[in-house]
Amino acid sequence: MLSRPRRNRKSESIRSMVRENRLELANLIYPIFLVDGEGIKDEVQSLPGNYRWSIDLLLKEIRECIDLGITNFVMFPAVAENLKDPHASYSHSADNFYLKAANKIKSSFPEICLISDVAMDPYSSEGHDGFVENGEIINDKTLPILCEMAVAQAKAGFDILGPSDMMDGRIGAIREALDEAGYYNTGIMAYTAKYASAFYGPFRDALDSAPKGGDKKTYQMDPSNSKEAIREAILDEEEGADFLMVKPGLPYLDIVKTLSEVSSLPIAVYNVSGECAMLRAACDKGWLDFEKAMPEMLLSFKRAGATSILTYFAKEYALLLKEGKV
Ligand code: PBG
Repeated sequence: MLSRPRRNRKSESIRSMVRENRLELANLIYPIFLVDGEGIKDEVQSLPGNYRWSIDLLLKEIRECIDLGITNFVMFPAVAENLKDPHASYSHSADNFYLKAANKIKSSFPEICLISDVAMDPYSSEGHDGFVENGEIINDKTLPILCEMAVAQAKAGFDILGPSDMMDGRIGAIREALDEAGYYNTGIMAYTAKYASAFYGPFRDALDSAPKGGDKKTYQMDPSNSKEAIREAILDEEEGADFLMVKPGLPYLDIVKTLSEVSSLPIAVYNVSGECAMLRAACDKGWLDFEKAMPEMLLSFKRAGATSILTYFAKEYALLLKEGKV
């Protein structure tokens, strides 16, 4: 036998020398849920270990995460039902608690990267990412709302905006609105290939943002398609995106790989709530070893070609690192 692949696996020093991918904390983005009020740390039932925070306690949590080495966060608002309306007007209102919190976080921790969510669903009485008229999601009536939301978020201090709505043309519209308002340094992480997936359940529980009627299939992508992801990637790149995102992650690693090959932009991947809940549940049952399975799952995103991984396990990964377990 001339070729024996096992020779390069003989010892940890050799394995480490030939290791092709290493996951670093810098690759991780920690999603956090924000709720209005004070003294609130409310666990999301279907996503154990993740909470809806009020800003006072969230600032302490972020401090703790920074001390563990986490530098990137994406924040989502859980909005009270009485503040929702068909136009998502609270999303850019002057007293929006999410915008105020972003301002507070960035002035307390200017060194971190804070990413937003641009979409109507947390603020929409219809629970849809776009404007609804007679049961239909109207693309071009949604764009100005997204632009107003985006400019308000840039003004609040978010470093990067994350349009997660899947309307056509929104990256270009948002880029133009930001530039016009002088926010040419605010980046855009486009949710490029966001699929109409069953894996978003725990997230919708956290924000109470499930659609009131219908589903999201006229704007989110069909899980059967991969060429369509390339089409979306080309559009987002042309329209000025700074990152392309694939979402969900684990069931769509082929899409991560494809986009990393066709685009020169950095690829982000969203290891969504349902993926994390699924792994956690199996570990809680004793069927999988959390400390081994979780890092292996995160590494798969890096290997597939993502530089940036949004994951609810970011803090737990940082803790494992600190304990020398990964
Ligand atoms: C909606 C949005 C969703 C997620 C992020 N932004 C859910 C949806 O499209 O209904 C899901 C993230 C997750 O499941 O972790 N704008």
